[in-house]
Amino acid sequence: MPEHPRTMLVTSALPYANGSIHLGHLVEYIQTDIWVRFQKMRGHDCVYVCADDAHGTPIMLRAQHEGIEPEALIARVAAEHRADFADFLIDFDNYHSTHSDENRALSTLIYTRLCEAGHIETATITQAYDPQKHMFLPDRFIKGECPRCGAADQYGDSCEVCGATYSPTELKHPVSAVSGATPVEKQSLHYFFKLADFEDELRTWTTAGHLQPEVSNKLGEWFNDGLRNWDISRDAPYFGFEIPAAPGKYFYVWLDAPIGYLASFKQYCERTGRDFDAYLKADSQNELYHFIGKDIIYFHALFWPAMLSGAQLRTPTAVFAHGFLTVDGQKMSKSRGTFIKARTYLDHLNPEYLRYYFAAKLDSGIGDIDLNLEDFTQRVNSDLVGKYVNIASRSANFIVKLFDGRLLAVDEFGEDQAATTNYLASIDNQAREIAGLYEAREYSQAMRKIMEIAAAINQDFDEQEPWKLAKDEAQHERLHRVCSRILHGFYRVSIFLAPVLPGITSRVATELFGQPRNLTWADLDPARFPTRINKFKHLAQRIEADKVQAMIDASKQDLTDIEAPTGTPGAEPIAETISFDDFAKLDLRIARIIRAEAVPEADKLLRLTLDLGGDTRNVFAGIKSAYRPEDLEGKLTVVVANLAPRKMRFGVSEGMVLAAGPGGSELYILEPHQGAQPGMRVK
Ligand code: MSP
Ligand code: ZN
Repeated sequence: MPEHPRTMLVTSALPYANGSIHLGHLVEYIQTDIWVRFQKMRGHDCVYVCADDAHGTPIMLRAQHEGIEPEALIARVAAEHRADFADFLIDFDNYHSTHSDENRALSTLIYTRLCEAGHIETATITQAYDPQKHMFLPDRFIKGECPRCGAADQYGDSCEVCGATYSPTELKHPVSAVSGATPVEKQSLHYFFKLADFEDELRTWTTAGHLQPEVSNKLGEWFNDGLRNWDISRDAPYFGFEIPAAPGKYFYVWLDAPIGYLASFKQYCERTGRDFDAYLKADSQNELYHFIGKDIIYFHALFWPAMLSGAQLRTPTAVFAHGFLTVDGQKMSKSRGTFIKARTYLDHLNPEYLRYYFAAKLDSGIGDIDLNLEDFTQRVNSDLVGKYVNIASRSANFIVKLFDGRLLAVDEFGEDQAATTNYLASIDNQAREIAGLYEAREYSQAMRKIMEIAAAINQDFDEQEPWKLAKDEAQHERLHRVCSRILHGFYRVSIFLAPVLPGITSRVATELFGQPRNLTWADLDPARFPTRINKFKHLAQRIEADKVQAMIDASKQDLTDIEAPTGTPGAEPIAETISFDDFAKLDLRIARIIRAEAVPEADKLLRLTLDLGGDTRNVFAGIKSAYRPEDLEGKLTVVVANLAPRKMRFGVSEGMVLAAGPGGSELYILEPHQGAQPGMRVK
């Protein structure tokens, strides 16, 4: 592929150091890793760096909550993050932390240059302060009643019930989520980055091809609202870097976070002897790319280029934003078991299956990406196992058994020469197109193309009926040609898939074809085709549906340890208000559980026989993972008695037992106080 070599630095957003990596994060790291692997396969000098985002109030409070120093917390989480990324085959060239010497030095440098150029000013502002904890409270750490709808227990920036957004001073009966004290207002001197100084420059930059068109358009709206100065300081106590010559004032986490990209790269340069400063010069010809989620566009498309330019450093070549992950069409949910941690996935499924599935869904836009669990299983099984791996498993053994592992070279096809040459040339034409799609981050189109090629190779195999040729010695030469051609095709498809499936394709290169190294794009050259193949060893297994279900069940169990640091349980928002008449329609009754038994065919259901004061009911309840049947017998509970009967696979359910909790093993049935009798109405 004669293309002039490019020098590129690529980043993914830095994950916060107070939580686990989940499948939503992985959309981004997988998207970036595929792109970087593709660039490297093409022979470009491409460096991929990342780091943990270690600063800020949530991390400080989380450490306090656990009774450890923030340094200990971030070290523990960093080890966890690194292991998760490594196991998903995310191949960073360097992974660092924003709490590092390199980042302190670079943040100081950039801040100092901004000061010298007059882009920093100070102003006194009034903020909520926790008089018990002696700290200023970020909006998220103030709770109270929504000023619009009156819902209790809402955060200081927005109401989860009615969706209103407001400032924390508008909350009714506010309390500090850290201590429970009533916040007071307090003044403090803050440092501001004068974003408005860069208005003209940013208007040009954001429309000059560095951003996706839909992102540029969105920014246009923000420009119309006017660029406001950005508050970059926070008061002690804070976990971060103290601002030079400003005792007790710290850089806001978002000031030093993007600088963390450069800090990680600096560490890489020191380790490998590269010239860091040359990379960052304002007129550098090297390329700089940031992959991010659409929620952090403002920081990367406005603040960050402005900071870099104000500090006389180069600005990014491009910022690539992606959409958010949904699972089965809905926001990831802890109670539905769809808030899936990277580690929980790894405990049950092969990481390359998720890499493939995301690739099959991703494009260059900012639309959301849905992980549909049924579609996931089906796609992996039919594409990866059925179409791709199948090619090799069907043809390799003929070559090994009958031809001692020798593959015919592209010019050894005898009477099939012309047809074979054409066939391979047609794949090579598609190679150019596939490369273009990877470059443009149109992975879903690339996957579709590649699977079309794989399907055509399978069809070729079927049409030649090699199992028949094998039975007739006179046909063996032909069989040798057919299987060699099929495996040449398989080899090329493996090259195409290598950015997405680095593990499987590395085994194809080294174990199956016995090469000393992994595949590169240059291996498409016919002269580089392998001449031998080894016995096929199993490469990938079909997904069984129970593995996916086991992952969902395990995710429900996980939910207790991903709670917010302040200990707020992952509360479900209060539902819409109903009238008293609506309520009166519910006929709730006290019932005694006379008998409880597991429904063997259903993993969640217990069959309950209830006595409602003479009226006996059969009710199915989804509480199997929370209760042993024998522990329920004899207990009183509350049942919706006038719910329309529901026909289920195992019988008719004549009512519904009330239980609270997120689900899984955390479900608690309601029990009345002593004295209540079966059949009594609940009002
Ligand atoms: N620490 C900041 C980024 C600082 S970059 C200088 C941050 N961290 S994060 O852990 O919340 O998110 C890391 C990346 O993962 C972000 O780009 C974010 O958009 C992305 N995602 C987090 N949840 C996601 C989904 N559910 N779906 C897709 N991407 C998501 O933001
Ligand atoms: Zn509200």
